[in-house]
Amino acid sequence: MNRAVPESAARRCAQELARGRVAVVPGSARATCAANIALVKYWGKRDETLNLPVAPSLSVSTGTWGSTAEIAVLPDAAGDKISLNGKQLPAESPFAVRLSRFLDLFRPDARFRFSVETANAMPTAAGFASSASGFAAVVVALDGLFGWGLRARELSILARLGSGSASRSIEPGFVEWRAGKRSDGMDSFGVRLDAEWPGFRLGAVVVSGAEKPMGSRAAMRHCKATSPFYGAWPPTVEKDLRTVRRAICARDMELLGATAEANALAMHALMLASRPSVFYPLPETLAAIRRVQELRAGGVPVWFTMDAGPNPKLLFEAGTERKLRTVFPKLEVLAPFDDLSQARA
Ligand code: PMV
Repeated sequence: MNRAVPESAARRCAQELARGRVAVVPGSARATCAANIALVKYWGKRDETLNLPVAPSLSVSTGTWGSTAEIAVLPDAAGDKISLNGKQLPAESPFAVRLSRFLDLFRPDARFRFSVETANAMPTAAGFASSASGFAAVVVALDGLFGWGLRARELSILARLGSGSASRSIEPGFVEWRAGKRSDGMDSFGVRLDAEWPGFRLGAVVVSGAEKPMGSRAAMRHCKATSPFYGAWPPTVEKDLRTVRRAICARDMELLGATAEANALAMHALMLASRPSVFYPLPETLAAIRRVQELRAGGVPVWFTMDAGPNPKLLFEAGTERKLRTVFPKLEVLAPFDDLSQARA
């Protein structure tokens, strides 16, 4: 190995999984992965370099909303060539810097350069984490390019090194990210649940496309260090995870919705209590949440979840969509299980 490639725990992990498998094939490789929304949230790392979580989490994929990555080897280039949604990015742009650092984990030698074209099939302002689907798609494309032939859980480990929630975007459907116990993270990966729910729907209520005040990495570190409620988070997650798994098996929307909503609110409560407070909701967020509560009080089965941003995501079944559209006319509705066969192919 060329010593000039920066050595790190993450690179050691990447090299270990790919060892003996590197067989560069000429040409390029392309992959698409769906994004995901956590029903039981990931909030807090036990290892910041390897993105190892304090607790497990569980998500559902976002159907046709995801990212595509096309990767090729770039001979004789000074740097990687990275484009996003059809536009080539300056090497110093935050996205290009983050992706090039991630690609460092996989360069056979320090002079090795990649060309990466990524595109997101979701409105970037809708608050759907395109980093999860983006890193997952990059890893699956690298697997194709180098011919590693890794299994889903190994791809999940590599995607996790780019962004924690990307570990849940290698496979579609309901995915549980096992926290693991090992310090090298080899037991921390996403596992797809053997359950489908064709009528399950996600709705995006876009209240703001503005940049969030604090990114998830810094916010997690701050909350873990300063929130007086952080100690209650891991046991809350363990309990909610068991309940959500049960709700998925029984296709019990009320149990799933109520538990996912309570879990998201518990995460936001611990954020609010950190010092200084990490506060993502806007007035429009609270108005949307009130409308969900009123709908429910009127007998409409709808719940919400919310990540590190101001845009709530609605959780409901197909039969409720028409009613919700009268209250949220701009609702973007996603069917996580609609294109599973395509995603699996
Ligand atoms: O994977 P990250 O570092 O973008 O963190 C994601 C954190 C949340 O979206 C708030 C929760 C989750 O489980 O996706």
